[in-house]
Amino acid sequence: MKAAIAAGSVLATGATYRWFNRTTTPMAETAALSDLVSAELTDAQRLQNGFLVDEEWTPERSILTYNNFYEFTTSKEGVAQAAMNFKVDGWQLQVGGLVQNPKTFSMSDLKAISPLEERVYRMRCVEAWSMVIPWAGFPLSRLLEVVQPTADAKYVAFETLHDPVRMPGQKTDVLDWPYVEGLRLDEAMNPLTLLAMGLYGKELPPQDGAPIRLVTPWKYGFKGIKSIVKITLTAMEPPTSWNRYAPNEYGFYANVNPAVDHPRWSQATEQRIGEAGRRKTLMFNGYEEQVASMYEGMDLSVHI
Ligand code: MTE
Repeated sequence: MKAAIAAGSVLATGATYRWFNRTTTPMAETAALSDLVSAELTDAQRLQNGFLVDEEWTPERSILTYNNFYEFTTSKEGVAQAAMNFKVDGWQLQVGGLVQNPKTFSMSDLKAISPLEERVYRMRCVEAWSMVIPWAGFPLSRLLEVVQPTADAKYVAFETLHDPVRMPGQKTDVLDWPYVEGLRLDEAMNPLTLLAMGLYGKELPPQDGAPIRLVTPWKYGFKGIKSIVKITLTAMEPPTSWNRYAPNEYGFYANVNPAVDHPRWSQATEQRIGEAGRRKTLMFNGYEEQVASMYEGMDLSVHI
C-alpha cells in the first residue's frame, strides 16, 4: 500500500495505539443486527472449521478507527470520520456474467438468502499488521448457489461502488476506480469465504465497507473488497486493483505467506493491533488446513 513502510514502522509504538484508539473519533452509529443467528455448530466444530479463532478479539474501537478505504482517504485514522455520512439506503448488488440466473439483489433480498452467522477471523494486512474480527455474514457460496454459475465460469470478479460525490477519494487518482478484486471460483466457494454485513453484532459501519464486503481470512486484507455493488462470474482471471497498481508487489492470489517477503518489507512477522511485540505470521494466516489443498502443485513464490 502507499504508506505501508511508514505504517509498519510506527505501529509498534504505544503512542500510535493511543492515537487511533481515541474515544472521541467522530463516526457513524450502526444498528444492532436483529437477524444474527446463533451458530448451529459447537465452538469445537467452529474452531475445527476455522470459523472461530481461539485468540483475543481486537477491541471494537481499533477495528472502527484504523482502516484502509482509499475511496474516502488514505489516512487510516481518518476513514471513520471521512466516511461517517456515507448512506447506503436502497443499496443494490448486481450479480451476473456466466450464471444461469442473473439477478440484482436488494439488501433484504440478500438477507433472505441465509441467516447471518458470526465468524471470528484473523485479518492480516499486507502491511504486516493484524486483527481478530468478529464478522457477521454468510458464505459467498450461498449467493453463488442462487445465481448458478455456468460450466464456463472459472473466476468471480467484484466491484466497489463508483460515486466520487459519495466517495470523495475517487476524485483523486491514488488508484484506478472503481476498486476491483477477484477470486478463483473454488476459492469463492470455500466455506471460509464470507459476504460480511456486520461486525461486533452490529451492521457494518461505513469505514469497514458498508453495507456488504468480502472477507477471505487466509489472504491479505486487500482482497476483502468493501461496499460491493457488482459480482461477475468470468472465464478469465479478472484484474485486481492492487495488482494493477504494482504488479511486482501485489499478486492475484495474495495468500498470506510468511516465506515470501513483500519486495519492500518482510512478511515473516506481524504487529497484532493492541499487542506489544510482534507475532510470527502463519502460513495461510493459520487456515492451512482449510485452504492448502486448493493450491496443491502451485509454486506459491511465483503465484503471489
Ligand atoms: N476495499 C475498497 N473498496 N477500498 C479499499 O481501499 N482497502 C483494502 C480492503 N478493502 C480497500 C478495500 C485493504 S488494503 C484492507 S487491509 C482492508 O480493506 C481493510 O479493512 P478494514 O478497514 O475493515 O480493517
